[in-house]
Amino acid sequence: MDKNTLSITDNRTGTEYVVPIIAGTYPKYGAAINALALRQIKVGEDDFGLMTYDPGFTNTAGCKSAITFIDGDRGILRYRGYPIEELAERCSYLETAYLILHGELPTPAQLADWQRQIMRHALLHENTKKLMEGFHHDAHPMGMLVSTVAALSTFYPDAKKLSDPVLRRLQICRLMGKMPTIAAYAYRHGMGLPYVYPDDELSYTGNFLNMMFRRTEVKYRVLHADHEQNCSANDMRSVGSSQTDPYVATAAAAAALYGPLHGGANEQVLRMLREIGSKDKVADYIKRVKAKEVRLMGFGHRIYKNYDPRAKIIKRIADQVFEVTGRNPLLDIALELERIALADDYFISHKLYPNVDFYSGIIYQALDFPVDLFPVLFAIPRTIGWITQWEEMLNDPDQKIARPQQVYTGHDCRPLPGIRRTV
Ligand code: CMC
Repeated sequence: MDKNTLSITDNRTGTEYVVPIIAGTYPKYGAAINALALRQIKVGEDDFGLMTYDPGFTNTAGCKSAITFIDGDRGILRYRGYPIEELAERCSYLETAYLILHGELPTPAQLADWQRQIMRHALLHENTKKLMEGFHHDAHPMGMLVSTVAALSTFYPDAKKLSDPVLRRLQICRLMGKMPTIAAYAYRHGMGLPYVYPDDELSYTGNFLNMMFRRTEVKYRVLHADHEQNCSANDMRSVGSSQTDPYVATAAAAAALYGPLHGGANEQVLRMLREIGSKDKVADYIKRVKAKEVRLMGFGHRIYKNYDPRAKIIKRIADQVFEVTGRNPLLDIALELERIALADDYFISHKLYPNVDFYSGIIYQALDFPVDLFPVLFAIPRTIGWITQWEEMLNDPDQKIARPQQVYTGHDCRPLPGIRRTV
């Protein structure tokens, strides 16, 4: 018998089935069976056939992908085969974004051209600006970002021509160029400040900070560029699978990122630190977490069960930032929380460690970014990951419109009772 198969015996009928095993390039990094192969497993002719039951897709591969590799047990994260530790140390954000999209690092000439193409599209149409002006003064910037990105779909109807690779590339550069501008405008709108136009003489991050409030460059965003099939990337693929344009698909991905269990966690970390209030109240808060009254935001991960490799890098950067900005009371609470949780049996046995959002939250706070802008700061660098996942999906002949099954638990067919009219 072929070794790359799986034998399944259905004990309800005694029937044995043999199904092929599909492996990735490196079988040790994960193999799967085609879920449809289970459909033949039936107890009778009118039986639908077996499915897998997997809420939250904890053990289901929705695609084959060559972009990002994660080994959660060993704390490994690689983009196109390169460890993020090396990329974070040696590459700029745009170099990494180029790598993610194209599969290889750029030559200096390719990088210069990539930067030019993106920066050319940083400007927003004046009507997009007007649309943003219509938001209430205290609108959450993430809501503004999600809505404005979706609205770009109406400005660029050519984005619907998904099969044209030249037009697809144009939308990718538009999205990359405009995300920081929308984010900066959302911030300035909330502050009641006039918008600052993009400056294509500046670097990608330099221009963003200039549009926000003229600051020197920060470089840690490489870590956020892609993260395989997480909740928002899965939404990008799911919404994109109905062949919608990339702007609304990106808006859907950003909406998923906004949630407190995903990219919104960095904002929640700060809200939690404020709720705790002072360092001496940390121990009580930990008791509430252990009693399952609240979750420790910025802790835990679906995939990383030993440590989050992004958190390891960003923690080092956090220390450098704090050397410059100095400590503050919220930071003291955060560090006390980290100290107690890392030594506590509950967190050790549940494999709960600080994730990237714990440290990004406290860095953004030390840098004086408003708390509600935190998820927006996550969405900008993640855009390249979303659009690369989206393009890979469009080019994958195996992909279909996303449409999961369900295990039905409702009534069997039953007759409608006599019609009752209420007057
Ligand atoms: N605080 C306290 N307990 C927790 C936490 C937490 N942050 N996370 C998980 N647990 C416990 C949970 O109560 C459960 O305990 P038990 O087995 O005794 O019932 C166990 O750990 C497993 O939890 P789960 O909810 O089944 O785990 P999951 O893989 O579905 O959830 C998670 C992953 C990230 C949603 C979750 O850890 C969480 O809610 N963390 C806080 C939010 C957060 O920081 N999110 C950012 C993730 S990193 C950025 C990104 O890539 O999105």
